Amino acid sequence: MKERFLTLAIESSCDETAAAVLDGGRQVLSNVISSQIPIHEAYGGVVPEIASRHHLKNINPVVDKALKDAGVGWKDIDLIGVTNGPGLIGALVIGVAAAKGYSLATGIPLVGVNHMYGHVCSNLITYPHLEPPFLCLVVSGGHTNIVEMESYTKCKVLGGTRDDAVGEAYDKVARVIDLGYPGGPKIDKLAKEGNPEAIHFKRVYLEKDSFDFSFSGIKTGVLNYVNSEKQGGRAINTADVAAGFQEAVVEVLVAKSVEAAKALGEKRLVVAGGVAANSRLREALTRECEKEGIKLYLPEIGLCTDNAAMIGSAAYYKYIEEGPDDLLIDAYADLPF
Ligand code: KG4
Ligand code: ZN
Repeated sequence: MKERFLTLAIESSCDETAAAVLDGGRQVLSNVISSQIPIHEAYGGVVPEIASRHHLKNINPVVDKALKDAGVGWKDIDLIGVTNGPGLIGALVIGVAAAKGYSLATGIPLVGVNHMYGHVCSNLITYPHLEPPFLCLVVSGGHTNIVEMESYTKCKVLGGTRDDAVGEAYDKVARVIDLGYPGGPKIDKLAKEGNPEAIHFKRVYLEKDSFDFSFSGIKTGVLNYVNSEKQGGRAINTADVAAGFQEAVVEVLVAKSVEAAKALGEKRLVVAGGVAANSRLREALTRECEKEGIKLYLPEIGLCTDNAAMIGSAAYYKYIEEGPDDLLIDAYADLPF
């Protein structure tokens, strides 16, 4: 292998069109994100058809910019990595078709990347010496899992949500209190002005020893609270609602991941996904892990939500461990961990 090994990575699974260039699995040379948040904001959530159209429009300019920012050309690229699931199918297809086209035109090998492995790999960029096996709490808009990463490409799922993902709960609750989209960062900010103990929302732990989650009940709890206050003619303190909701979900996430670490005798806990950007979750995990003697790994804020740098890292390790995919790779809305 030559001195540098450059991966061009593409991510288009939801509402960000992103491309990045990495040297090896951990050094980011460029990381370009074209966010569609302002476009979808008007609709209160991601509109899949609109997302696909914008990916189509943005994909080539975003890739060009990633190459330019890295100061490299196609002749320097050794590998193309692309998210091929899970996500919105129409959005994924744009990234996968572009990656196949680039691979076919240049002869550069191609690998399809599971978006969730990408999230986990954001930590490999933040922590250059972090290596599997490790325990990971994955918290995003579509997933809530506790997994044991056995290698860079294989994991054992210890638990997952039985209904809503935690990010989805944040987004739904934000809608109930009219905060708009994307709900997670808005609740995070508003909760700082509220009292987390003013309103108690039920914590759902499920069976003892289970590492599964359930977040659909809390969304209904918030909805019922808001409706009953409105019917009683009382003003709603949305900051207290946000803080109370957040406290309830964070408490469960922290308790279950620390429990999993203790049960498995793990001395390290890695966190990944969009909700890993949440300030209260980061604070509570830091405090609890310190108390329990667990070393905590949190991805840098900019790598928590969707980006292509994390996909580049996952692509590199998949290529090293399993070799390239062929041009018949497809996009999958559902792709298991
Ligand atoms: O990982 P991600 O970018 O996309 C998926 O793969 O789903 O996660 C997006 C989710 C959204 O539900 C968003 O509301 C949530 O992450 N999120 C947050 C924060 N930033 C993003 N949730 C809570 N607090 C935040 N600061
Ligand atoms: Zn994601």
